[in-house]
Parts: sequence; structure tokens; C-alpha cells
Amino acid sequence: MLQYSAWIDKVAKKNRSKIVLALDLTNLGSKQLLSNCLRILKETAPSICAVKINRQVVLPLGLRNGVQGIIKLAHNLDLPIIMDCKINDVGHTNEAIAGHYFSAGFDAVTASPFVGWKDGLEPVFKVARQQGKGVILLVYMSHKGAEEGYGQNVLDPKTGKLCPQYMIFAEKALEWGADGAVVGATYPEKISAVHKTLGTKVPIYSPGVGVQGGDVEAAIQAGATYLIIGRTIFKSANPQKTSSDLKNQINEVVSKHQSNSR
Ligand code: XMP
Repeated sequence: MLQYSAWIDKVAKKNRSKIVLALDLTNLGSKQLLSNCLRILKETAPSICAVKINRQVVLPLGLRNGVQGIIKLAHNLDLPIIMDCKINDVGHTNEAIAGHYFSAGFDAVTASPFVGWKDGLEPVFKVARQQGKGVILLVYMSHKGAEEGYGQNVLDPKTGKLCPQYMIFAEKALEWGADGAVVGATYPEKISAVHKTLGTKVPIYSPGVGVQGGDVEAAIQAGATYLIIGRTIFKSANPQKTSSDLKNQINEVVSKHQSNSR
């Protein structure tokens, strides 16, 4: 089986898509929640390169119960599945959390670099590497309050100079060999700054286009590799068409950007 990063890259090329579908359905009974998740995943599969779920889906469905249906369907459709659990505790519990998600079938997890390496995320990267799974780091979140944490200026311990917290996290993503860095599409200038540090070594996953106000073209031009898109697709009247239209829109932006940079 392919290692996570190679798998999502392969599917993105095969489906000609940069969309990671965020299946964030809420306010439904468990039966309806599961059947809607499965239906939307089937309908959008040709237009996406991966799927992502959060705890608001895992809690009502159960990791060993309903969630198994979503994981199996994703894998049958040749799509990697990401658990957006934002791991954020001390090492031994982080390791156990990642271990549960990986053994349940998830291919990657998200994690917060605020907890650091030693006794923080080192055990998560270790267990991921042993199993060919991915770890995606939050570098700058897309919501308004992100500036209060990720946007603070802090003293860079390496240089002794003031530096934005998220740029230190971008360096960590490189140093730790992360499989991705999350930077909100609502801040294209921050995607650009992070992309300058990461180059092609760590792909940028960018949530926040559509409902949160982020712009597809600005995010792609700034260097986003994948766009995480939820409500714009699953709340639309026709998720199949919306995902296909978005895929085409993104591909047009990519072609335009490539021809401009030639
Ligand atoms: P929407 O519905 O806004 O969903 O397309 C965005 C998805 O991305 C996840 N996610 C984040 N959202 N800032 C966010 O606002 C982040 O940094 C971030 N990281 C991941 C979110 O959980 C939802 O699934």
C-alpha cells in the first residue's frame, strides 16, 4: 500500500483534483448522518482527491461502528481519508490517539505544533512513519481568532529576533518532515510566506474557501496545493455538480497560473 503523501498525490493527478472534501455534516440522527455522508462521498468522489472528517462525525457514529462504513467506502473509491483530530496533548496520549485512528483505518491525522516535539508530537510522527501514515500540521488557521495564537509575534529561539508564530511553525513542518501544513485560504499572504519556506517539500492544505470567504484563485496563486472544502459542497443542492464545477474552476486557475509563470 502507498504511503499517505504519495497516495493523495497520485489520486490528485488521476482525478485532476486538488479538493479535500470536509464531510462536516451536523444536526442529524446517526442513521441519517451516515447515509448522507456515504451518499455525498459517492457523488463527489470523481472530483476530489481525499476526504476528511472531524470529531463531530466520529462521536455520534463511533470509531468502530458507523465511521468504518465511511473509511471503507473512501478506500473502495481509492481515496485517502484524513482524521482532523488536531492532536494537542502530551506525548503518550497523543501517541495513543494517533494509534487508535490509524488502526481504525485513517490514513493521516492533523496535529497542533503548539505542543512541540519532545514528549509532544515526536511519538505521533514515529507511529505514523512506522505505518506509512501522514501527519498534517496546523500552521495558520483560517478563522478570525487565529491571529490571537498563530499570528502572534514571538521571539524566535534560533535567531533571537521577533518572528510570527506561524513562520516558526512552517519551519517545524520542514524540520519534522510533516506531510502537510494547514494555512487558511482567508490569508493568501500567509500562504505565500509559508510557501516560500516550504517550497515543494511540504504541501499546503488550505481550508476556508467559499463559506468562510477565501478565494480559490488567491489561495492557489499563493501556493496552496490542496483546498479543503466543506459546506460549499455538502450544503449545496447538488454536491456532485458543485464539486465538479469547483474542480474545473481550480484547474482553470492552475493552468492560468502555470502559463503566467512560464
Ligand atoms: P468549510 O465548511 O468552511 O470547512 O469549507 C472547512 C474545513 O476545514 C477544517 N479546518 C479548518 N478550518 N481553519 C478552519 O477554519 C483551519 O485552520 C482548519 N483546519 C482544518 C474545518 O474543520 C472544516 O472541516
